[in-house]
Amino acid sequence: MTVLRSVVLGCGSYLPTQILTNEDLARKVDTSDEWIVQRTGIHERRIAAPDEHTSHMAIRAAQAALTHAHVDAQSIDLIVLATSTPDNTFPASAVSVQAGLGITHGAAFDLQAVCSGFVYGLATADSLLKSGGFSRALVIGAETFSRILDWTDRNTCVLFGDGAGAVVLDAQQQPGTPEDRGVLTVRLRSDGRYKSKLYVDGGPSATGTVGHLRMEGREVFRHAIAMITDVVEDAFKTTGYTAADVDWFIPHQANKRIIDGSAHKLGIAPGKIVTTVDRHGNTSAASIPLALADAVADRRIKRGDLLLFEAMGGGFTWGAALVRW
Ligand code: ACO
Repeated sequence: MTVLRSVVLGCGSYLPTQILTNEDLARKVDTSDEWIVQRTGIHERRIAAPDEHTSHMAIRAAQAALTHAHVDAQSIDLIVLATSTPDNTFPASAVSVQAGLGITHGAAFDLQAVCSGFVYGLATADSLLKSGGFSRALVIGAETFSRILDWTDRNTCVLFGDGAGAVVLDAQQQPGTPEDRGVLTVRLRSDGRYKSKLYVDGGPSATGTVGHLRMEGREVFRHAIAMITDVVEDAFKTTGYTAADVDWFIPHQANKRIIDGSAHKLGIAPGKIVTTVDRHGNTSAASIPLALADAVADRRIKRGDLLLFEAMGGGFTWGAALVRW
């Protein structure tokens, strides 16, 4: 019996041109390249131009994904934009993307799950496509975290960067076998008891301001690997796959130590990890599709490969997905 699945037709990404290196940061705050590389694996990150908004980057990533997928923008009837840094409080930046792509049908909305946003977006689009109400979706992660950083706080400003990534998902009947293409499972979690460990100290309702990112880094680190491995194990249990079946591990790019620690605990070989944190920093909801686009562009990822996505971030929220390319 065939089953309806969300098959990835293509992916794309966009990075702003301005590069901010660790040396540049060491001129602004009391830090060093050595400290940042040793603790995080980050060497540099991109920073959006002053007139470059989240939706502008999202449009560029979406256009790249549509080109890669060889499909017309008019075939898209659902846009899910994962972001914590929308252009404005409302309307959703997703409608700016929709307008920018010249689409006037279907639905577009933003989704807010911080660093887990792309995995949450994938789950949302997958469910809507499987419902039969939509046929082809763009799932985008796009962020301008540079706008919510406190550039005097060395604990946080060295960690994040700007960028966007996107995938095109198509509802397709698949044979219903372990070799099916598309989204095979997405598992999501959140626990609001940890909401003060990583947050922004402003917002339209609470303060009437945008606010700045605040974080208890050690606390985030302490929980990250356990939460990630737990939800990935759940994805394995749901599908019957194991770490040995995974061809490429494409984690949220927060910190090289978290990525390597999670892979080690899961039993995933270092050679299967896709890492971009060294060049992109933590781009929150954009980091997974940015890393995916990187590994697709250099042809590491091949059709039929089993991909494992995972993310953890503010909330805390966390999640994992298994996708056959
Ligand atoms: N440069 C130099 N020194 C610094 C810097 C910096 N940029 N930042 C902090 N320090 C200092 C601290 O002030 C502290 O000094 P002290 O001992 O004199 O007080 C010292 O370095 C150690 O600080 P810690 O916070 O204990 O350092 P730690 O080893 O935990 O590393 C880090 C900090 C990198 C933030 C780590 O905790 C981490 O990676 N946490 C996870 C956070 C994360 O990835 N967040 C992203 C969002 S969540 C997500 O996406 C999963």
